[in-house]
Amino acid sequence: MTLNASINETHRLQTPQLDVPPRLLMGPGPSNAHPRVLQALGMRQVGHLDPCFIDLMNEVQALLKYVWQTENATTIPVSATGSAAMEATLANTVESGDAVLVGVNGYFGHRLMDMASRYGADVRRIDKPWGQVFSLDELRSGLETHRPKILALVHAETSTGACQPLEGVGDLCCEYDCLLLADTVTSLGGVPLFLDQWGVDMAYSGSQKCLSCPPGISPLTLGARAIEKLNQRSTKVPNWYLDMSMVGKYWGKERTYHHTAPINMIYGLREALRLIAEEGLAERWARHQANAELFWEGLAQLGLDCHVERQYRLPSLTTVSIPEGVDSKAVTQKLLANHNIEIGNGLGELAGKAWRIGLMGFNSRPENVYMLLDAFKQTLSK
Ligand SMILES: Cc1ncc(COP(=O)(O)O)c(C=O)c1O
Repeated sequence: MTLNASINETHRLQTPQLDVPPRLLMGPGPSNAHPRVLQALGMRQVGHLDPCFIDLMNEVQALLKYVWQTENATTIPVSATGSAAMEATLANTVESGDAVLVGVNGYFGHRLMDMASRYGADVRRIDKPWGQVFSLDELRSGLETHRPKILALVHAETSTGACQPLEGVGDLCCEYDCLLLADTVTSLGGVPLFLDQWGVDMAYSGSQKCLSCPPGISPLTLGARAIEKLNQRSTKVPNWYLDMSMVGKYWGKERTYHHTAPINMIYGLREALRLIAEEGLAERWARHQANAELFWEGLAQLGLDCHVERQYRLPSLTTVSIPEGVDSKAVTQKLLANHNIEIGNGLGELAGKAWRIGLMGFNSRPENVYMLLDAFKQTLSK
């Protein structure tokens, strides 16, 4: 056997040293990782069953419980992106024919429906226009009509910038004997979340938004009622990788091998969570709110409107309505090319109608707000 000379030429000799531009990531995610997180990612490795790594896993679990305000024993990071943690909630608790009711008021409600259907759920939906949220009465009426086993809601809809209130929804779900599932990808670490007080039975998140860690590791939490549903399954969890009855044994007392944990990503997540604990959860939420308000004020001064009613606006993600006659994609391209700032275009129903701007975690700072407003002003005046 000999090496293929033409492959050698192309790939061995012509790949330059890695270099990327210094982007400020102010879109819907990923956001820039905190420098301390990037440093932690480069720490030397230990084995994924090393006693010192096991201590570190315990710390990550304790910190995740803190940021989510939950005592759920099954609170772990899934070794993949947020969609895998989303899939883990459904794969473990849905059995064929179970009615799953999804609140659809944006792009990620659709993803939840698609995933639930792939696990054999009898998927039902209630709808609100993109940018609006469900009231408790609307949720009650959905539960009354559909009598689901699971109600799935997106707490922070990254496609619209709306924050779905969850207070009282857990009690409603208990009344209708159903589990409450919440997508907290764009809220964890940036927007108030009280999982236990709100009676949320399962939730998932991502590392790349308000946690300020790169994408690739995703918090997941299952409460006692969700674990009971998992334990009472009459069929195996139809997804080997995300089967929490097996993964839970690595993160639980047994510490048995399931898959090789992404050690350095767990270092990074630990540092990201440590930064939140250092700052204080309430202080961090207040910082996100204050910087978002500063941004909204600046937008108003530029004559730009927000898509979501102020009361329901996420501090971590703002959708800005695109003024008449403005080429929205040309603006995002110019911000990137001339200012190294990434913002997001509208998604789904809001494509061409709104920009999506994130002020998440490490990036939620006044200097970033001013920099973006200034870049916007320059770009729009052209
Ligand atoms: C609300 C919401 N849910 C789920 C996801 C999926 O996460 P990921 O892209 O990390 O798989 C995202 C990603 O942006 C999101 O914003």
